[in-house]
Amino acid sequence: MIKAEGLTLQYGSGTVAAKDVSFEIGEGEIVGFAGPNGAGKTTVIKMITGILKPTEGKASICGFDIVKQPLEAKRKFAYISDNPDVMLQLTGAEYINFIADIYQVPATDRRTRIKNLAERFKINDKLGIQMREYSHGMRQKVMIISSLVHEPDVWILDEPMTGLDPAASYELKQLMKEQVAKGKAVLFSTHVLEVAEKLCDRIMIIDKGVIVYSGTVDELMEENSGKGLEEIFIALTSGDA
Ligand SMILES: Nc1ncnc2c1ncn2[C@@H]1O[C@H](COP(=O)(O)OP(=O)(O)O)[C@@H](O)[C@H]1O
Ligand SMILES: [Mg+2]
Repeated sequence: MIKAEGLTLQYGSGTVAAKDVSFEIGEGEIVGFAGPNGAGKTTVIKMITGILKPTEGKASICGFDIVKQPLEAKRKFAYISDNPDVMLQLTGAEYINFIADIYQVPATDRRTRIKNLAERFKINDKLGIQMREYSHGMRQKVMIISSLVHEPDVWILDEPMTGLDPAASYELKQLMKEQVAKGKAVLFSTHVLEVAEKLCDRIMIIDKGVIVYSGTVDELMEENSGKGLEEIFIALTSGDA
């Protein structure tokens, strides 16, 4: 469902933030993308979602090339960026409906979906308030709800747990599990290893723009017997996470 082939990105400043990144994520698979700060997670995610154009390589979602067939590809996935501070002049409800309009979600479907999700995240009584009055976590909840109104086949989330309280974080993890149970694909970045360890079929670890590990947590632990996951992670990466 998500395919990256040799993705490379050099920023104007000269920094090579991603180098020859290739992977494939299939139906019903949940993959955690781990790496220290500045490793290149956001850069890779932005190339997959069409926000950044790769210097080299290509990416596709459900078979649609994100550069050559951007509309077809974008209909298939939802993306939550690492910054929920967008369109703060809108109320939560206005923002969610704006996104639902873009994806042409029928009125009745969207009402039930929004109601269910807003109740799960305990934000239903706050949706009428402008988002500038929200906390970071509340904005993040609105981003999560709006990303699911069109029932995407592929869900891509950049550091989604940041700022969420334990109950919301739990709901988000449940939602990810529900998505994969329905045969959808989930890719999320995190620097919190425990989250990746508990949730994922597979993890990818990136350091200095290069994927240094891709496989299950169990395999990684077996290869490095006697060491804890945190220790292995620090040894694999530059150690400044
Ligand atoms: N717009 C930009 N211009 C120049 N360099 C950037 C830009 N965005 C990120 N970088 C650099 O690219 C590298 C990877 O950053 P990023 O993808 O944001 O990492 P991560 O999400 O893993 O923390 C870092 O060295 C960062 O400083
Ligand atoms: Mg990032």
